[in-house]
Amino acid sequence: RQNERESLYIILNFAKNFYVQQLHESDEGQAVGLSYFKERGFTGEIRKKFELGYSLDTWDAFSKVALAKGYSTQLLEKAGLLIHKEGSQTAGYDRFRGRVIFPIHNVAGKVIAFGARILKSDKSKAANQPKYLNSPETEVYHKSDVLYGIFQAKNAIRQLDHCYLVEGYTDVISLNQGGIENVVASSGTSLTVEQIRLIGRFTPNVTILYDGDIAGIKAALRGLDLVLEEGLNVSIVLFPDGDDPDSYVRKVGAEAFKAYLKNNAKDFITFKTEMLLQDAGNDPFRLAAVIGEVVNSIVKIPDAIKRQVFFHRTSEMMKVDEQMLITEGNKILRKLH
Ligand code: UTP
Ligand code: MN
Ligand code: MN
Ligand code: MN
Ligand code: MN
Repeated sequence: RQNERESLYIILNFAKNFYVQQLHESDEGQAVGLSYFKERGFTGEIRKKFELGYSLDTWDAFSKVALAKGYSTQLLEKAGLLIHKEGSQTAGYDRFRGRVIFPIHNVAGKVIAFGARILKSDKSKAANQPKYLNSPETEVYHKSDVLYGIFQAKNAIRQLDHCYLVEGYTDVISLNQGGIENVVASSGTSLTVEQIRLIGRFTPNVTILYDGDIAGIKAALRGLDLVLEEGLNVSIVLFPDGDDPDSYVRKVGAEAFKAYLKNNAKDFITFKTEMLLQDAGNDPFRLAAVIGEVVNSIVKIPDAIKRQVFFHRTSEMMKVDEQMLITEGNKILRKLH
């Protein structure tokens, strides 16, 4: 087991180096990959920090080199780099082809997987292929445990005692480009307890920066109770509809972006209460349901003083008696313990 993991780290690192080299040294990598990154404003320094690469648009450019180096078909397959059909006599083919490559590192900095983005010029392909192709689950890659960028961000998170959480690879990179280094991505999945605990190793303070669309908002709400249960202090900033942190920081610049964060950060309970109240309108039954939902979130907060602050705040927002909320909360708490 230990040996297999070590072998996987080695082949994944070999693949990363190959993709980085192809980006900078092959004609196709320069013409297609490098120009793509440059168009997005990713400097050489940032490309190096995140070890960005390019996979050639052929069936076996990577596996040919890896097999020639003595790595086995089985290892390439277990690493998620080679796709090989069961029982097939052929050698199989590279998973990542004609895409820009975002290596995914674990906390210690080892490459454990890749995200690979289709090039936007590739309209014919874009029609029936996913925008991002990711490594499958492997012995060293459990998607739900991983935060993209944690290795590059961890020192800044610890120093600033604060972490920004975004959805995408390019959000992490663009924010870094703008001088914000304490940022990690959930990579499009809804937040897991493992991801939250990973952040909690470095700071209790999290600000969620999700894409400004309904899906982003719903994803943010789903994550809420989990994060509260882990005792983290959560705020959220939403972006104008259609923008994500990457597009917004490029639109307004780093300074205005930071000001936007400052002016629009809302603690998560307040945010959720506002959202639910908006939805409910004046319908008394729906308002009653909102009260129940908000109380349910507040009781997830382990700290009694913080709970009290939120009972007070939300009673004012919902225009209901604070003592009633506390009584309801205590009922739920008694059931839980
Ligand atoms: P988005 O669709 O918001 O992409 O998905 P993005 O990060 O803004 O990428 P650009 O700016 O279009 O290049 C957010 C994240 O969800 C995951 C990726 O991790 C992505 O960064 N995702 C998205 C996938 O894994 N596969 C997909 O096909 C799409
Ligand atoms: Mn796991
Ligand atoms: Mn996005
Ligand atoms: Mn984007
Ligand atoms: Mn009070």
